[in-house]
Amino acid sequence: MSTASAPGKIILFGEHAVVYNRPAIAIPVAQVKATVKVESRTGPVQIDAPDISRRYALEDAGPEDPIATMVRQTCARLGAPPKDFTVRIESTIPVARGLGSGAAVSVALGRALASFLGRDLTPQEICDLAFEIEKLHHGTPSGIDNTVIAFERPVYFVKGQTSESFRVAQPLTFAIADTGVASPTKDVVGDVRRALDSDRSRFEALFDRVGALARAARTAIEFGDIDALGPLMIENQRLARSMGISSIEIDNLTHAAMRAGARGAKLSGAGRGGNVIALVDARTHGKVERALMDAGAVRVIVTRLE
Ligand code: PMV
Repeated sequence: MSTASAPGKIILFGEHAVVYNRPAIAIPVAQVKATVKVESRTGPVQIDAPDISRRYALEDAGPEDPIATMVRQTCARLGAPPKDFTVRIESTIPVARGLGSGAAVSVALGRALASFLGRDLTPQEICDLAFEIEKLHHGTPSGIDNTVIAFERPVYFVKGQTSESFRVAQPLTFAIADTGVASPTKDVVGDVRRALDSDRSRFEALFDRVGALARAARTAIEFGDIDALGPLMIENQRLARSMGISSIEIDNLTHAAMRAGARGAKLSGAGRGGNVIALVDARTHGKVERALMDAGAVRVIVTRLE
């Protein structure tokens, strides 16, 4: 039997603009994870995913099924026939909330299958396999989710380029608050694409400004300039609202976090729901956490970037 896990993730800066080749920053979130167990069992492959109430045979799943496709493509990559094992998937990462649940399942699955088959896959190989599955989840993914999760380190990401890690000069603490609203990434990415098609110059300018924030944020993180980061987050959230990807729930939570003393707050991920992140410190994080729950968050996770 082999078991492997992969963390969730948040996007600190640059969602959506990253689909259009601007830089973005993401970090792994170890407080939530997907776990995959692969066990020997003679016969056709069975997939058991109790969290989404699914139990099915691999051979019954079509090419649009992300889990089945990851099993098939990983086995093909390792030159092993997909048979004589079962796959059990469990995850504490809520689905469609911008925390990378789909990419985490793919990465954990790739790791567990490689280990079960006694083979090694590098983080880059797992990342590439998971990227193919992201296309089923997202349509036109940038690749940021599978990259930050497969490498499990902060990434400064530009689509189609080798992702860069960077130095974190001062630890940063984020409160991650779930609006309770599921928001499929594919839908929001599709809406942004349609908006871009109907007003190209306005959206290209918005993406440029978001990209400039990601660049400035990287410098601030590398130099430990925490004071600069909050305003950059607030500006990213303002631009997200102009793109039409915020929502009442997101605005309520970002405002509540700011009133309670957060340095900055914004949506994280596709938007229209999902999670909000707030930059907090030792002095404010309890107060911000309570304020987020009082403002309607269904759960708050606190994560630290060292
Ligand atoms: O999976 P999510 O909801 O975190 O969205 C990923 C970020 C987007 O920029 C909206 C899409 C992408 O592929 O980068």
